[in-house]
Amino acid sequence: MYPRSFMDSNGDGIGDLKGILQKLDYIHKLGVDVIWLNPIFDSPNDDNGYDIRDYYSIMHEFGTMDDFDALLEQAHTRGIKIMMDLVVNHTSDEHAWFVASKSSEGNPYRDYYFWRKEPNNWVSIFSGSAWQHDEATDGYFLHLFSKKQPDLNWENPQVREEVYRLMTFWLEKGIDGFRMDVINFISKNPTLPSVYTEPGQLYAYGGEHFMNGPRIHEFLQEMHERVLSKFDMMTVGEMPGVDPDLAVLYTGQDRHELQMVFQFEHMDLDSGWGGKWDYKPWRLSDLKAVISKWQEGLYQRGWNSLYLNNHDQPRMVSRFGHDGEYRVTSAKMLATFLHMLQGTPYIYYGEEIGMTNVAFSSIEDYRDVEIHNMWKERVLEGGADPAVVLDQIHVKGRDNARTPMQWTDGEQAGFTTGTPWIGVNPNHGEINVEKALQDPDSIFYYYQRLIALRKTMPIITEGKYVLLWPDHDQIYAYLREGEQDDLLVVCNFYGNTLEFYWPEGFSNDNTTCLIANYTGEQWLESGFVLRPYEARVYHRLRSQ
Ligand code: NOJ
Repeated sequence: MYPRSFMDSNGDGIGDLKGILQKLDYIHKLGVDVIWLNPIFDSPNDDNGYDIRDYYSIMHEFGTMDDFDALLEQAHTRGIKIMMDLVVNHTSDEHAWFVASKSSEGNPYRDYYFWRKEPNNWVSIFSGSAWQHDEATDGYFLHLFSKKQPDLNWENPQVREEVYRLMTFWLEKGIDGFRMDVINFISKNPTLPSVYTEPGQLYAYGGEHFMNGPRIHEFLQEMHERVLSKFDMMTVGEMPGVDPDLAVLYTGQDRHELQMVFQFEHMDLDSGWGGKWDYKPWRLSDLKAVISKWQEGLYQRGWNSLYLNNHDQPRMVSRFGHDGEYRVTSAKMLATFLHMLQGTPYIYYGEEIGMTNVAFSSIEDYRDVEIHNMWKERVLEGGADPAVVLDQIHVKGRDNARTPMQWTDGEQAGFTTGTPWIGVNPNHGEINVEKALQDPDSIFYYYQRLIALRKTMPIITEGKYVLLWPDHDQIYAYLREGEQDDLLVVCNFYGNTLEFYWPEGFSNDNTTCLIANYTGEQWLESGFVLRPYEARVYHRLRSQ
């Protein structure tokens, strides 16, 4: 959940903890077990809380520590756990450690961050050089994200001690886990070498020197020993640039590191050579290849996290489904596809009512630092066509996922009585919680059924994933094979009608339909008709 955009209780236009508290029953009704809160710590909000100024206090726009305690208690009362965002690859430049660090070269905090007399040529993930000059000491500091997010130097044991201390503080308070922000960036090649650039190119990614670095497993094992092993808790590490073999090293039970990773390979399928903004259509065959690689690669070796969108990604129904005529149907299809896989599904707020991307007409309407840095580099400094860049933002911008939760069809979608920090999506008249809760056929109730199914059918947790028809360009079908039973999941990812034939051993006599996003089947002699964006899940007992 993106707290800034979920529910505003005090009319300042910014979502807050009391707002979440008001909506806990709604979340409970859906059936979720854990809420992952994007960062709620004190922050100047250059990157909406991913730039932390004080790890021990709550962002004042979100409320107070008392509000947090009440939220935690009320969540626990309903059997819901709370997972917090641990952002320790970097801090805010306003954090006391950094303020001290930049004050003089001899300051004891100097070595909490990376300072150099000469920058290397790494590019920041938010555009431009990854180094910022600071006049006071005539030095450059490393920031892989915005210049207000200096990277912490994990080589320094004191930094690690500070992190373990703050983690322990929150865990002792009773939180139930951490989602760890870009946690595989914390070990860097200590020489911070420049990397090859094409002639005329100023900066290069440099990822091979800061992702999955030389001491990463040592650091995570130390964190496990010092903190994680002492609590009954959940961990998921956000890890760009991992493959299943690496994920097994990070999550294997005998490794004593983390429980799950967020991988990005399926999120990169529509990125061209120029990166995320250089979008290209994704292909179903690629989606099948990536998902299958992870399902097979972690089977009985690790554990998958399952997601199709989050606060950094476009809305899934706009990206992988159809956000027009087939919005409801395709949202249910995508949910079916995801929830029947092996792993832990993550639902991003608003996904359960089929919220879509937004297309603001002016750059002024956007709030995200990544978008504005890119706009500055490409349009203001680079002379790119603003219409083209705006179009890229409409397709890939992170603010697509950050518009206020659509509670009602009323003013500001019922999110705030004030002026929201970012505009509400104009489609809230059509897409809102109030309407979803009144319609038994809504996406919301479909999710509720999917979640309930996961809790009652062990095959969804345990079954072995087997991809069917890898080359079919419209249908994504897979099996989950158990010892006594099997699931067959069939999803039409497109808007046309197709014929589907039973795989060997399945027929309409030996299967029961567990869930589908259309009512009634249209049988064929040895299969059925698959309508636009149709999804069907069949269960078969081996004895039948
Ligand atoms: C990944 C987070 O998900 C994203 O929102 C943030 O901007 C970066 N890490 C930097 O913290």
